[in-house]
Amino acid sequence: MIFLKTDEEVELLRQSNRLLAMTLAEVAKVIAPGVTTKQLDKIAYEYIKDNGGEPSCLGFEGYPATLCTSVNEQVVHGIPSDKVVLREGDIVSVDTCVGLNGFIADSAYTFPVGDVSPEVMRLLKTTKECLYLGIGQAVVGKRVGDIGFTIQQHAEHAGYSVTREFVGHGIGRGMHEDPEVPNYGRRGNGVVLKSGMVIAIEPMIHLGRKNIIIEDDGWTARTADRKQAAHYELSVCVRQGKADILSTFEPIQEVLKERFI
Ligand code: MF3
Ligand code: CO
Repeated sequence: MIFLKTDEEVELLRQSNRLLAMTLAEVAKVIAPGVTTKQLDKIAYEYIKDNGGEPSCLGFEGYPATLCTSVNEQVVHGIPSDKVVLREGDIVSVDTCVGLNGFIADSAYTFPVGDVSPEVMRLLKTTKECLYLGIGQAVVGKRVGDIGFTIQQHAEHAGYSVTREFVGHGIGRGMHEDPEVPNYGRRGNGVVLKSGMVIAIEPMIHLGRKNIIIEDDGWTARTADRKQAAHYELSVCVRQGKADILSTFEPIQEVLKERFI
């Protein structure tokens, strides 16, 4: 079921997305070699709770943590652990959902840990470009397939591949509402976008081949060829001419700028 959001609902979604953006910025402050993904999870849990939010991933279909922390070849749904120590040259994709006033926000960002090879930094840059190009298609009258086509085209032109098993989605009172928003597809295909549709666009892009494997924990998805994957996600409200981006990476980027310049 697709729920078109009222202007009031869009404002509530903007608030939950703001809290999520601030949460990811708190995580960004501490990402460094030697830190465990469990430490990141604790920081996020406490920040969300302290600010009146709900960590919506925790307990979702039995998921055991606040964050998904996916390192290097892990694509999504890596489970935070005190055994996973970040090392110089790693990348870590941090994905989470926050509920506030009954509306759920969903966002992800892939962070470099210390110095990362130019080859992998290019993957991060291209995946973020894929996200913003996809958002550029989230306007009244376009179709879901236009978003997927645009993302896939940009990724594959750069020599990368696109995850098939996980997709973006509508979002609101539910974490996953219709429509599905794949990161691949054909121009002019799929659901027609209408004003007030809120969708989470989340390209997951692989340095190597598209195939993935689910680890024995039942959650962690990694590339079959063990090459790196990146993941960026924002929620947007479809509007005439230009999407209204409800979440933002600005707080994260402020932190990264202060830390590394
Ligand atoms: N944040 C994920 C998404 O983009 C959902 C995570 S599933 C969970 O849809 F189980 F980890 F919550
Ligand atoms: Co999502």
